[in-house]
Amino acid sequence: MKILVTGGTGYIGSHTCVELIAEGHEVIILDNLYNSRIDVLDKIEQISGVRPKFYEADILDKEGLEKVFAENDFDAVIHFAGYKAVGESVSIPLTYYENNISGSINLYQMMKKYKVRNLVFSSSATVYGDDFEVPFKEEYGLGTTTNPYGTTKKMNEMIITDMDIAEPENSSVLLRYFNPIGAHESGLIGEIPNGIPNNLVPYIAQVVSGQRDYLRVWGNDYDTVDGTGVRDYIHVVDLARAHVKAIEYAASHKGTEVINIGTGKGYSVLEVLHAYEKACGHEIPYQIMERRPGDIAVCYADTKKAEGLLGFKAEYDIDRMCEDSYRFTCNLSKE
Ligand code: NAD
Ligand code: WQD
Repeated sequence: MKILVTGGTGYIGSHTCVELIAEGHEVIILDNLYNSRIDVLDKIEQISGVRPKFYEADILDKEGLEKVFAENDFDAVIHFAGYKAVGESVSIPLTYYENNISGSINLYQMMKKYKVRNLVFSSSATVYGDDFEVPFKEEYGLGTTTNPYGTTKKMNEMIITDMDIAEPENSSVLLRYFNPIGAHESGLIGEIPNGIPNNLVPYIAQVVSGQRDYLRVWGNDYDTVDGTGVRDYIHVVDLARAHVKAIEYAASHKGTEVINIGTGKGYSVLEVLHAYEKACGHEIPYQIMERRPGDIAVCYADTKKAEGLLGFKAEYDIDRMCEDSYRFTCNLSKE
């Protein structure tokens, strides 16, 4: 298939491009490089042997977007482009709604105009909010989101669902990612955080590379194995492979499907820290702090639907996730 990947030079997008190319798909990337670097294209080429066609374009720019659709006959779109920092979304909600909602609507309008029927959208486990029991199941539906970022994901899910009701020829898969971490085994692509990372593993990586003194562990009084928060971490390459299966599923079905992408297993903050210590071969300093507002105690996926519908099962364990993250971190600090 000829697939438009918005946000394709970003963290999850770049890994997905590699896996799409490996499965014989043609990839065209659209990204405004707000949170990614142009040299990611070189890295994708180094890994896969193919340099994807690239448009430096913004989904908020309707004319630029139209040019991309007019010049290509896409079979499908995988839509990653968006802002993703939870805390920032609380401070500048309109910017988040504009980029993640208006930008997405521009894209969906273009898909409608050019009759591109197949879509995979990057949603998030954050749409479950704190309303449900673990493991989170797709049938629970949408919970109460606790920040504008999460609300943009929930709104996108609702918009796409309505769009598919109005256009029965459409086929969309809404992937609810749990906590993607890790990097490609080549150490060439991975997550490059902008400023101080909010997420656990990028923060640990910066402690290991000497950019931060210690990890602040947000609370150790949760009802979990060691009192620290539990999450369903998934290797970004597993997540990327789930996109290949999802877009192939979309192309051979109609309607809207919501699918969790996780491993189904939860790890605590300290368990992740210890796995990272194993990967880097030394202790990593940390301090226990107060709970972080908005955090929930435990979050992990029910993965049955992904297995049944997509035939997807995550392969890599937490040790491998940390090893690959560490390799990428070492390469990054050599730059
Ligand atoms: P990322 O920031 O690395 O990638 C997003 C890409 O989109 C970046 O390259 C950025 O430059 C681009 N972009 C942003 N706004 C754009 C615009 N207006 N026009 C064109 N390009 C634009 O983020 P990521 O971690 O790869 O996440 C990809 C998607 O997955 C996002 O939609 C994110 O919300 C979602 N998601 C991420 C996580 C996570 O933990 N990383 C979890 C759940 C969902
Ligand atoms: C994981 C655990 C923290 C940092 C967020 C978004 C979610 C999704 C993924 C996009 C928690 C603890 C963290 C630190 C810590 N993103 N922690 N010290 O909060 O599960 O999910 O990213 O869609 O929408 O909300 O991920 O990596 O921030 O936290 O102790 O410096 O690590 O309290 O228990 P989270 P996270």
